[in-house]
Amino acid sequence: MKALIPAAGLGSRFLPATKAQPKEMLLVVDKPAIQYVVEEGLASAADEVVIINSREKKSIEEHFSPAPELVAMLRERGKSAYADAVEHAGNLNVSYVYQDEPLGLGHAIYCAAEKTAGEPFYVLLGDVLVPDNKMLPAMQAISDAHNGASVIAVMPVPEEEVSRFGVIAGAAVSDDVWKISSLVEKPAVEDAPSNLAVFGRYLLSPRVMELLANAKPTTGGEIQLTDALDAVLQEEEMYALIIDPADGFDTGTIESWLETNNVLYQRQKDGK
Ligand code: G1P
Repeated sequence: MKALIPAAGLGSRFLPATKAQPKEMLLVVDKPAIQYVVEEGLASAADEVVIINSREKKSIEEHFSPAPELVAMLRERGKSAYADAVEHAGNLNVSYVYQDEPLGLGHAIYCAAEKTAGEPFYVLLGDVLVPDNKMLPAMQAISDAHNGASVIAVMPVPEEEVSRFGVIAGAAVSDDVWKISSLVEKPAVEDAPSNLAVFGRYLLSPRVMELLANAKPTTGGEIQLTDALDAVLQEEEMYALIIDPADGFDTGTIESWLETNNVLYQRQKDGK
């Protein structure tokens, strides 16, 4: 089973910082943001992370490649903690596919169709970090309890923010699980069926990948993953795990990236 991380975006909100450096490589406390997401993927049932990259962002691939000479030099100099950290990053099981045109999240995911080989798969959006790595196993448990159904993480947001997100309709089956009846991408406030917003962690059935093969651009002129999820509901059940907003850290804007750095740094200092 694979975990897919779309990473081909331009990072426009962080320009000029992202002019020569991918947004995913920006530092969060002591490692690039994307390393948190890769580690989260590998802490789940996934055996490999597939990064959907653009051909211009080679530094992401360099980061996850072995660097034996650097490791040897650090060891010779007695810097074993740094050597271990470099070795660890180079040993993470990551592979790459390429999205050559920015046609939307649904298109990005479909670029990894061959990698998922007809199996269920995870999608992890890199704008949010889940450093305790507990969300995907919780989603997997819900899927296992419902015959392998797709499960997505959703977060309650203030009503006026719904139009930034995918939003679900459905009904509660327990305190923190909903059965989804439909999804809509970036609805107007008055059209939003709930305040439960798609957060950026998905466990999806292989049928979603098949539907993406013929998906057409909609909201924002892009091929939307949310549309394929709404379409699969005609054929399969889907559930939502309602997460505590405190479990996820947004790095999608400069303000939230700074705040995430502050909170995670403080946590590390306190040894939590
Ligand atoms: C994407 C998804 C949206 C989801 C959001 C979470 O939108 O299309 O459904 O709610 O991520 O961050 P984007 O932020 O790429 O516009």
